[in-house]
Amino acid sequence: MKSMKKVWYVTGASKGLGLALVKKLLSEGYRVAATSRSAETLKKQVGPYNEDLFLPLEVDLTSNESIERSIQQANSVFGGIDVVVNNAGYGIGGTVEELSEKEINDSFNINVFATINVIRNVLPLMRAKRSGYIINIASIAGFAPATGWAMYGATKFAVVGLSEVLAGDVKDLGIKVTVVAPGAFRTEFLSHDSLVLPENKIEDYKSVRVSHARYLTMNGQQAGDPERAAEIFIHLAEIPEPPVRLFMGTDAYNRAKAKIDALDDELEKWKDLSFITDFSG
Ligand SMILES: NC(=O)c1ccc[n+]([C@@H]2O[C@H](COP(=O)([O-])OP(=O)(O)OC[C@H]3O[C@@H](n4cnc5c(N)ncnc54)[C@H](OP(=O)(O)O)[C@@H]3O)[C@@H](O)[C@H]2O)c1
Repeated sequence: MKSMKKVWYVTGASKGLGLALVKKLLSEGYRVAATSRSAETLKKQVGPYNEDLFLPLEVDLTSNESIERSIQQANSVFGGIDVVVNNAGYGIGGTVEELSEKEINDSFNINVFATINVIRNVLPLMRAKRSGYIINIASIAGFAPATGWAMYGATKFAVVGLSEVLAGDVKDLGIKVTVVAPGAFRTEFLSHDSLVLPENKIEDYKSVRVSHARYLTMNGQQAGDPERAAEIFIHLAEIPEPPVRLFMGTDAYNRAKAKIDALDDELEKWKDLSFITDFSG
């Protein structure tokens, strides 16, 4: 008899958080459709698997057609999709004027538009069943971004913004949404294969180079454990009322708290100017 556990669809699964999640799900008997730019690499990284449980999908996340096909395939093989994790994404450092139009557009295509297209394609299935759960992986950079990561911050703020509104829009349809904001996790995120830095660096931005150097030295030392993150994603999908936002990691929590305090101070400090623009009377 086929497993009745939830069906998951995870993007960007050949390494890092996505791979840790897929392995954990399979070890617990969930059915998983997972995407990668290379199905071969994905299969190799996952190791021997049960074909009743795992559907590796080669997907070009810059193509809505490719995303749509993969969701239809997962739906027809497993008879539905219960949980979607928009995980694929990458870091992009550099200032607004250093990054080329292509570098910027490529990052939005993966970090933002792929997420939107996955959601657009899966919602009709979830709406029909009046149930489903969407986890969008943003970043602490989508709430409290750091010097030198303007475009990464922009893409992840977009993911946070759309997730917060989506959560409200689909609430009455039985669909839940959580946007996860991880701090630093020990994945391939900071490796040369994943991270993008601008081809065209401008001398003047000295503090930006210092910030990037500091991040690069963290590679392999990050406090966040991808296997623990995987456990949390599974837990979130099993509880009746998951949060709309989850900051993941003590560093993410601390950065979020400092940002909230700074926001609060600024809000109050400039309150007079904020209030002055209403029509009087
Ligand atoms: N690790 C951290 O410190 C950290 C912190 C905050 C947020 N995040 C977010 O967490 C998510 C997972 O990242 P990770 O830490 O697991 O990094 P990772 O080890 O580099 O894995 C990233 C995954 O995203 C996919 N991906 C990366 N670049 C892509 C591209 N250009 N086109 C299509 N897919 C691409 C890859 O999929 P395939 O190679 O399988 O196609 C890969 O499996 C990302 O959204 C990232 O922004 C990570």
